[in-house]
Amino acid sequence: MTGLKSARQLIDMADMVRPSALRAAATLRIADHIAAGTATPAALASRTNSRPDVMELLLDYLVELDVLSGNTIEGFALTELGQALRDEHPALVRSSLTMDGLIGRSDAALINVLHTIRTGEPCHASVFGQSYWDSVNEDPSFQDAFTPRRYDGLDALGWDTAMIVNDYDWSAVRHVVDVGGNTGVILTELAKHHTHLQGTLLDLKNAATVAADTFAANGLNDRCEAVVGSFFDPLPSGADVYLLSAILADWGDEDAIAILRRCAEAAGPQGKVLVADVNLVLPGAGQRLWIRATMPTPVRTVTELKALGAAAGLRVTFEGPVTPVRSLLEFSPTAAGSAE
Ligand SMILES: C[S@@+](CC[C@H](N)C(=O)[O-])C[C@H]1O[C@@H](n2cnc3c(N)ncnc32)[C@H](O)[C@@H]1O
Repeated sequence: MTGLKSARQLIDMADMVRPSALRAAATLRIADHIAAGTATPAALASRTNSRPDVMELLLDYLVELDVLSGNTIEGFALTELGQALRDEHPALVRSSLTMDGLIGRSDAALINVLHTIRTGEPCHASVFGQSYWDSVNEDPSFQDAFTPRRYDGLDALGWDTAMIVNDYDWSAVRHVVDVGGNTGVILTELAKHHTHLQGTLLDLKNAATVAADTFAANGLNDRCEAVVGSFFDPLPSGADVYLLSAILADWGDEDAIAILRRCAEAAGPQGKVLVADVNLVLPGAGQRLWIRATMPTPVRTVTELKALGAAAGLRVTFEGPVTPVRSLLEFSPTAAGSAE
C-alpha cells in the first residue's frame, strides 16, 4: 500500500529517538568507555552516573542502529560505526554531537525551529531561556568546550580567516582590540605575524577565560590580554583598530549597528573598525534552514555591510579581499560623528 509506505517513511523521517539517543551516547562517552573495557549496562551506568535500566534500553537501541554489537549479559562492543563515536576519531564526530559541546548545544535548539519560522529569531532562547552565546559563556560546564580540540595554525582556521592577518596593513597599528575574539587564536596569529602589535581580546566569560590561557600557552602575556565584557557595553577606548571577525552574522541589523557604534565610539576620530564578516551561503536547503535558525544573518553582502557601517556613523576607508565566504572592510568614523 503506497499510502501506508509514505506514512511510515514520514514517521521515520520525523523520528526523534535516533538523534537524541546518538547525542546522549556521545555525551556519555559510551564508545570510549566500551573501548576502555567498560561493557555491561551496569558498569556503563555506574561509570556515567546513569540509571542501569535506562542505560540498557539505550545500549539495545545502539545495537539496533549498528553502533554496537553484543548483548546485556556478555557486554557490548563497538562496530565500525561505533568506532567513529570515539573521542579520538579524527573526524571529531563526538565533539560535535555532545550536548555539552558548542555545536551539540546549538543543534539541540533546532527542536524549536518552528520559533524561527514564525518569528525570524534564532531558536536557542526559546529552548534554553537565554541567547546561545550567553548560555554557553555563563555556564562553567561549557568552558572546556571552548578549548580548541585541534589547532594547526592560521591556514586551518577556515572561512578565509587568514585574510585578517595577511591582507591588512598592520604596520602602523600599535594596539588592536579583538571584539568578540573567542578563544584568542586569531589574535595569537596576529601577534605572531606582526610582532610589534599589542592586543586586547574582549569576549564573554568562558571564551575570554580560554583566550587568556591561549595567550599564556603561546608566550604572549606581555603583548596580549583577555578581558571579560560585552560588546553592547562601552569598549576599552583608544586602540588603533577594533576588529570584528565573524561577529555581525550572529545579529540582526539593529544589534549589528549597536555593536558597530560601540566600536566607533571606542575608536574615536583617529581609530579604525575592521570588519571581517562571514557570508555563509550553504549548498543544501536543509543546511540553509539550520544556519538561519541558529545564526540570524548568515548572509550579508559587502553592500549591506557598508550600509550597516553608515548607519553606525562609519565610512569605508579600505576594501580588502572579498571571497565567497568572507570580506574585509576598514571603516573610519565619519566627520559628522553620528556614532554617539
Ligand atoms: C562566531 S564567534 C566569532 C569568534 C571570532 N571573532 C572568530 O572570528 O572566530 C562569536 C563570538 O562572539 C562572542 N560574543 C557573543 N556575544 C557577545 C557579547 N555580547 N559581547 C562580547 N562577545 C560576545 C562569542 O562568545 C563568540 O566568541
